[in-house]
Amino acid sequence: MSFADRIPAYLERTEQALERALPDAARPPQRLHAAMRYAVLGGGKRLRPLLVYATGEAFAVPPDRLDAPAVAIELMHAFSLIHDDLPAMDDDDLRRGRPSTHRAFDEATAILAADALQPLAFEVLATALPLAAEPATQLRLVALLSESCGPNGIAGGQALDMEAERRQLDPAELEHMFRLKTGRLLRASVLLAAHCSPQITDAQLHRLEVFADALGIAYQIRDDILDFTLPGQDLNSDAVKAKATYPGLFGLARAQARTDQLLDIAIDAISDLGASAGALRWMARHTMLRSE
Ligand code: IPE
Ligand code: IPE
Ligand code: MG
Ligand code: MG
Ligand code: MG
Repeated sequence: MSFADRIPAYLERTEQALERALPDAARPPQRLHAAMRYAVLGGGKRLRPLLVYATGEAFAVPPDRLDAPAVAIELMHAFSLIHDDLPAMDDDDLRRGRPSTHRAFDEATAILAADALQPLAFEVLATALPLAAEPATQLRLVALLSESCGPNGIAGGQALDMEAERRQLDPAELEHMFRLKTGRLLRASVLLAAHCSPQITDAQLHRLEVFADALGIAYQIRDDILDFTLPGQDLNSDAVKAKATYPGLFGLARAQARTDQLLDIAIDAISDLGASAGALRWMARHTMLRSE
């Protein structure tokens, strides 16, 4: 049985755990709760939770220890997308083929829903029963998640992304922006799961960091390629908004070549994990083949 065969069960698990973590839409303030649920449920490839479970497979971590990390990461991701779409940032009316949260609700509700999703992610990690017996591990996970969304993570990367609308970046600067805005949360997905294994070594953690860093940058280049090659001229495309993208700055061929190179770096970094890392290798390859 390959990892692909186990994905439906992991996705089902993720949806159920997200559902449990989110506030009831019938409870006041209903509009806030509805917006939080709208942003998180009903769509999304769930790449980050799948990376959590795939890393868990490499180190024989049971899935019930990983539900809280998977949910926390996905809540953080949803928070970041609400902000990313706001008029002050990318000003996107659509997300996952439907109105973005500030369009489906209103700006104030979207900002508050994002405000509420971010601490909910930490609450989920800090109160997870399967992890509660090991406070040191739990604290480490909270610290890693904090790092991934702060100045050295999403917030820093998004700040660089906004500045780049007014300035030409070189490839290293562009990739550093990708590393922070997208890569750090992918890295947290891998590291949170790895830290749930009592046997994990520093050398293994280092290789996983190299793997996740390359994958994160490649994932954002792939996202840029998909936007760049959208059929027709989308009114909200990165090009129209003067966003700094890999194909926009350096051409499609170079963007494609760089994702191939980064994928090789990622796969190579985990080569000595052997057969146990089959799920991680599968994730890396299929992440790059994504078409939405
Ligand atoms: C979108 O991420 C933003 C990026 C960091 C590229 P995803 O493409 O993983 O978003 P969903 O959750 O599947 O919609
Ligand atoms: C990634 O960049 C966004 C975040 C890190 C939140 P994009 O702005 O390219 O993501 P999409 O294309 O809107 O999903
Ligand atoms: Mg953006
Ligand atoms: Mg965007
Ligand atoms: Mg994009």
